[in-house]
Amino acid sequence: MKKTLLILVFSLFSLSVMAQDVTLRQDNIDEVLSQLSLKEKATLVVGAGYKSMLAGIFGFKTPVPGAAGMTRAVPRLGIPAVVLSDGPAGVRIEPRRKGSKETFYCTGFPIGSLLSSTWNTELVEQVGAAIGHEALEYGVDVLLAPGMNIQRNPLCGRTFEYFSEDPLLSGKVAAAYVRGVQSQGVGTSVKHFAANNQETNRFWNDSQVADEPLRDIYLKNFEIAVREAQPWTVMASYNRLNGIHTQEDKWLLTDVLRGEWGFQGLVMTDWTGRRNTASQIAAGCDLMEPGNGSQIRELVRKVKKGELTEAELDLCVRRVLELVVKTPTFKGYKPSLKPDLKADAVVAREAAEEGIVLLKNASGTLPMAVGTSVALFGVGSYQLLPGGTGSGHVHRPYVVNLDEGLSGEGFHIQESLASLYRRHLEKNPPRKTFTSSMLGSPGSPEMPLSRSTVEAAVQEAEVAIVTLSRQAGEGGDRHLEDDFLLTNAEKRMLLDVCEVFHGIGKKVIVVLNVGGVVETASWKHLPDAIVLAWQPGQEGGNALARILSGSVCPSGRLPVTFPADYFDLPSSANFPYDYSGPGSMAGGSARYNDVKNVGYTVYEEGLDVGYRYFDKPGSPAVSFPFGFGLSYTSFELSEPVYAGDTVSVTITNIGKVAGKEVVIIKDPILRAFGKTRLLQPCESQTLNLIIQDHETRTD
Ligand code: BGC
Repeated sequence: MKKTLLILVFSLFSLSVMAQDVTLRQDNIDEVLSQLSLKEKATLVVGAGYKSMLAGIFGFKTPVPGAAGMTRAVPRLGIPAVVLSDGPAGVRIEPRRKGSKETFYCTGFPIGSLLSSTWNTELVEQVGAAIGHEALEYGVDVLLAPGMNIQRNPLCGRTFEYFSEDPLLSGKVAAAYVRGVQSQGVGTSVKHFAANNQETNRFWNDSQVADEPLRDIYLKNFEIAVREAQPWTVMASYNRLNGIHTQEDKWLLTDVLRGEWGFQGLVMTDWTGRRNTASQIAAGCDLMEPGNGSQIRELVRKVKKGELTEAELDLCVRRVLELVVKTPTFKGYKPSLKPDLKADAVVAREAAEEGIVLLKNASGTLPMAVGTSVALFGVGSYQLLPGGTGSGHVHRPYVVNLDEGLSGEGFHIQESLASLYRRHLEKNPPRKTFTSSMLGSPGSPEMPLSRSTVEAAVQEAEVAIVTLSRQAGEGGDRHLEDDFLLTNAEKRMLLDVCEVFHGIGKKVIVVLNVGGVVETASWKHLPDAIVLAWQPGQEGGNALARILSGSVCPSGRLPVTFPADYFDLPSSANFPYDYSGPGSMAGGSARYNDVKNVGYTVYEEGLDVGYRYFDKPGSPAVSFPFGFGLSYTSFELSEPVYAGDTVSVTITNIGKVAGKEVVIIKDPILRAFGKTRLLQPCESQTLNLIIQDHETRTD
C-alpha cells in the first residue's frame, strides 16, 4: 500500500515537472495546446487592449509605443506577446519615447492609390520589403496592411489606402506588397475583409451585395492576395455583410477564406472592441483586437455553459500559436531600432516617381526646362500632404514640399509669392486635436488669393503651378461639396491664375495632391498640364520635381476612373454622399439600421463598378478613364499573341526620351497587365503576361 502511494506521488510529481517543462516550440503546438487551461486559451485569443496604441499620449510602458495592439503572453509555457502595428503607407509607431532622446521615425511611403498607379508589382514588392524591414527593426511582428478594399465610390474616406476599382489590379498589387513585407520575416494583415467600402456608421453599416458582384469584385481581390501570397493574417472588417457582421460570418471566414481559398493563417478582428465574442470564435475569427479582459471571462463562461465548444476555441488558439511561432519576437530577434531610413527614402521616392500620373500635357508644356522661374499657388505647394489620416498615417522624419523639391532640382521659386504663403501657413498651422499626434491632422486652410497677387506674380515667373490638395481618413467619408468638387476659392484661384498667365502667353500646371478621385471635367480645359501626384509620401516634392523637369518620364496610369460627374457613377445614389451626421471613428450605432446608406447600403449597381460600367456602349463619357496616363515619349505595341494562359506583347520606344510603358489587357475586364523596364529610344521589350483566370472559385 505504502509502495503504491509512493509511486502515485512520484508520478504526479513527474507529471507536474513535465508540464512545467513544456515550452512553446515550432513543433510542439499540440502539446502546448493540451497544457493550456481554459482561461489561458481564452486569454490567447483576446488582444492586450489599447495600452500600446495610447502609449504616446499617456506614456504607458510597452515594447513598441504606438503599435496598434498586441496579443497576450502565457509566460509559463513560453508564449510571448506579439506586436501588431499599422499600416499601409509605412509603419505607424510613436516617433518619440519617454525618457529617450532617440527618435523612432518610419519612412512615409506613397499611399495605396499611388502604388497601384505604378502597375509595377516588382516595385510594390520592394516597397513592401522596405516597410517590412522597418517593422522588423522596430520590433513589430505583424504589419496591419495592406488596405485593399475595392474603390467602389470615390467618396469613401479611406480610398487613399486602397488600390483600385478593379479586383485583379488590387489583388496583384496586394499580393506583391504582402510578399515584400513577409520576405523580411514579418507578417501582414490584409484588410478589411470584406465589402468595407464606406466609413459612415462603419461598425454597423450592412453592405448588401448580391452573390456575383460579391464573388467577382469584392472578394476576388482578397482571393488573389490569399492564393498568391498567403498573408500571415487577414483582418475582418467592422461592417456587416448581407446582414451578418463579417467577424461573425462563418461562411466568409471559414468556408470561403479557408475552405475554398486555402488560407492557412489567422483572422483577427478590426479594432472593434467587444461584440459577441463566442460567435466570432465559432465563425473562425481567431483574435479579438484590441481586446478587453471581459471577453476572456465571456469565453470561459460560454464554454462552461456549453454555448461554445472547447474544440471551436482550440482551433482559434492553435492558429494564434501558429502565428506566434513565426514571429521575430518568438524567435528572439533583437530589433536594432535603427532601420536604414536613407535607403528607404530612395525606395519611397522611386515609387512616387512611378505612380505619379500625367493627365494632361497640352503642346508639350512639360517637361519644364530646369532653371525656369515658377510661381507656386495653393497652400499644398508649400505644405504637401504626403498621406492620409487615421491608422494610415505615418510619423515620418520629414516631408519634402514641392517648393523644396523644385529648388533642389534647379528651378527658381518666385519668392514674394512664396513668402505670402509661408506667412499664411505660420498663422494657420494644421489643426491639432487630441488624436492628431497619433493619427495625423488635416492640412492648413487655403490662402485667400487676390487678383493683384496673381498679377504681381506673373511679372516675375515664367510658369504657374497651382496645387490642389485633399485630405481624408478613417472614421468619416468625403463630401461632394468642397471636396469631390473644387471649393469656390479653388475655382477662383484657378480661373485667375489661368487668365492672368495665359493673358501674356505663360503656362499653368495643376498638381493634384489628393488621396482619391476629384471632379476634373469642369475645369480641366483651363490649365495646360495636369499632374496627379496623389499623396506621394515624404519624398513627394522630390519625385514631383523630377517628373516636372523630365529627369523622370511619367509612367503612372490610373487605377480608377475619373467620372465626369459624381452622379454618373452607378454607386452614387447608394452611398452617403449627403450624410452630415456624426463621424464613426469610434463606431456608429445599430440605431440607424433602417436608414438607407447609413444603416445599410445596397450595392444596386452590381458588377457595374468603374470601367466595367463606363466602357459599356451608351454609358456617360468619363473625364479620365481607368488605365489612362501620358508620357514624355511614345511607344508602339505589337498585336498581342495568345498562347495558352500567356499573352505576349512587344513594346518599342519610338519617342525621343527613355521611358517605361504599361501594358493593359482587357476583354472587356482586366485580364493581365505588366510594365516594361526603362526603355531607351528605339529599344524594345517583349512582356509575357499571365492571363488571370477569373473562374478560380469552386462553388
Ligand atoms: C482600422 C484598421 C487599423 C486598426 C488599428 C482600425 O480603426 O480600421 O485599419 O489597422 O484601427 O489601428
